[in-house]
Amino acid sequence: MSPTSIFHNISRLVQGRGSIATLAQEVARLRATRVLIVTDPGLVLTGIPARVAALLSDFNVQIYSDVESDPSVESVDACARFVVEQGIDLVIGLGGGSPIDTAKCASILATNGGKTEDYLGIEKVPAPGLPKILIPTTAGTGSEVTNVAVLSLKKLRTKKGIVSRYLMADTALLDAELTVGLPGKITAATGMDALTHAIEAYVSRFAQPLTDHFALEAIRRLSRSLRTAVHCGGNIDAREDVLTASLYAGLAFGSAATGMVHGLAMPLGGLYNIPHGIANAVLLPHVMKFNLVAAVERFGDIARAMGESVEGLSPRAAAERAILAVESLSQDIGIARYIDELGIPRKAIADIAKDAMTNSRQVLPNPREVTYEGLIGILNDAFLPEPGRPASDTFGVLMA
Ligand SMILES: [Fe+2]
Repeated sequence: MSPTSIFHNISRLVQGRGSIATLAQEVARLRATRVLIVTDPGLVLTGIPARVAALLSDFNVQIYSDVESDPSVESVDACARFVVEQGIDLVIGLGGGSPIDTAKCASILATNGGKTEDYLGIEKVPAPGLPKILIPTTAGTGSEVTNVAVLSLKKLRTKKGIVSRYLMADTALLDAELTVGLPGKITAATGMDALTHAIEAYVSRFAQPLTDHFALEAIRRLSRSLRTAVHCGGNIDAREDVLTASLYAGLAFGSAATGMVHGLAMPLGGLYNIPHGIANAVLLPHVMKFNLVAAVERFGDIARAMGESVEGLSPRAAAERAILAVESLSQDIGIARYIDELGIPRKAIADIAKDAMTNSRQVLPNPREVTYEGLIGILNDAFLPEPGRPASDTFGVLMA
């Protein structure tokens, strides 16, 4: 744990089944009159944005549905232009991480001017943005409670983040009923993103007691409910458990940061357009193997939180159970085991590792020192074993 810790708190959190019915009160509380719901075309087809807009009949409300998946900086600039042209005074991000991150960035661009690219990096936004209410309809990114937005730089074929206190929501509203219709595949990928946030936050160099609490509770909830949420999507108890887990994981990594699962997932997204949750899900056990030696006790805690029986095991053996538990969960919900299964060629390893080394927001918090050679080792392990290639000895884990 770092000697000084900072916890980025959320100012207002509204939770509960059916809590979307209180949205008009939240908008009125923020004294808004012209409201923009930022969402994506897929969600429009579910009818959810129209239902949410209908709750705001006392306000001038519009729906903006041109959000891209893994949004580019240009698409965010376009959304911000619309916000300014229409005189919007409150932005609602409704959907998964892409609409929420687009809404967060549009709100700061509307008041600060300039382009999205001007604010990439840490605390480069000079002034607060428009008020924003963030409403997730997936359970994974935790973006509704973080000070981060992740964007695609198409020209550079990579992804980078904006970190700013002004990206925090004025209100985050979590209603599990909005997640019930989410397809199993997306539930699986986003749920594994949340699990990755929790695990990476728990073993982070920037972990602190408050983030530990949220991270372990998120891991417990995902371990007990993600399978049900994926395979029995109408089970509202499981949906609520997973949504709460995603929230807790967001509160954990929002202050403790993430590590090299995310650091390597960024180039998989930027170079090969692999969706964020899937990239994380495939990478997670491979990066855990690399990190295990640097956080044996903490991996043992993760195994316990995942429901593994570790009585009588050595700390090292208990830690390995955490990796087995993640692999078992991934298998049960249909996550690919190797990067090849995502259509990425083995020859991409060097480019992925080079790009990942530039992601200092993930390199620094990672519990084990990150080197280019270390990343090559992780990636070699994350591709299907080749005939004649010896198993990596970088890890020394799970090979006994
Ligand atoms: Fe993530």
